[in-house]
Amino acid sequence: MSIPVLDPRSLQAHDSGPPALLPASWLANHLNSRRQEVNAFLEKSLEGGARHSDELRRVMHHAAIGSGGKRLRPLLTILAAEACGGRAEVSLPCACAMEFIHACSLIQDDLPAMDNDRMRRGQPTCHVKFGEGLTILAGDALLSLAFELMATPSTDLPATRQLSVIQLIARSIGLHGMAGGQAADLLAANAAVSMETLRLIHEGKTAAFLQACIVAGSLIAGAAAWQLDALRTFGAEIGLAFQIVDDILNETGHETVTGKAVGSDQALGKATFTAAYGVEGSRRLALEALNRGLEALDPLGPTSAPLQEVGRFIVARNF
Ligand code: IPE
Ligand code: IPE
Ligand code: MG
Ligand code: MG
Repeated sequence: MSIPVLDPRSLQAHDSGPPALLPASWLANHLNSRRQEVNAFLEKSLEGGARHSDELRRVMHHAAIGSGGKRLRPLLTILAAEACGGRAEVSLPCACAMEFIHACSLIQDDLPAMDNDRMRRGQPTCHVKFGEGLTILAGDALLSLAFELMATPSTDLPATRQLSVIQLIARSIGLHGMAGGQAADLLAANAAVSMETLRLIHEGKTAAFLQACIVAGSLIAGAAAWQLDALRTFGAEIGLAFQIVDDILNETGHETVTGKAVGSDQALGKATFTAAYGVEGSRRLALEALNRGLEALDPLGPTSAPLQEVGRFIVARNF
């Protein structure tokens, strides 16, 4: 599965002149090679036998690698680092940690106690395939592995920078981010929620971590304050747009393309943008968020072209 390079004219995205004078083939090759580097590093991180349970290692491998996935979060981390002048290989361990955290969040999100989903990435969900016990433990172990990777000393990365990244990521997935948002998502089911609460749910469960993946990349690259500001704004907007599109696909997508159940949000009475604003209204809001995000990247110039491309993909995707 590769991320297609989009014709920006297919979206009414903001027009600030040529975003970057880079040919589409260069962008496609760049994104594909970064994606391959991520896949190779993910594999390497889970290589070898396991001391206590090779079955747990297999479940982790399936959840994070074998079942597929678009690898958007690690790509965003690396591309953000590169947009700030950093080298891709320095951000690679952290980028892969983002994918392990993401995998943990997905297998937990699908559990019967959460969304009770039976299909993800076109395959039976982790608990359907391996049972709930091993799924919960694989989530724990993926999360631990992610923090181990982020904390592994590197001669290319000052320890103080590493610590700020770890603090940022921890905060984005805890009470004030993903876990908090997921709790609010559960509690909002079949309840009347205000537009403000809906936005808070989406910011918490999805946007906070996505934004942190981007900011982490720029911190690793030693970004200046103005670069960090730009990427923070881009991350918040693209994170919100991401979850709005996820809501739209849950209503209008095709299971064979999205690889997951369609219509389940409505069946569970979930608080979604489509329930609140309709499909067309949600599309408009996602596009507006994308445009604000792209605008925020303007000061970075052509180095942010790959990041812009992934931003456009996030809104235009059908899976
Ligand atoms: C889906 O994320 C879960 C949400 C946070 C909405 P992705 O659409 O990035 O999932 P994969 O990794 O590509 O399967
Ligand atoms: C998932 O949100 C958010 C996290 C995994 C943190 P959803 O429940 O809306 O996403 P999908 O549609 O199952 O992927
Ligand atoms: Mg959910
Ligand atoms: Mg779900």
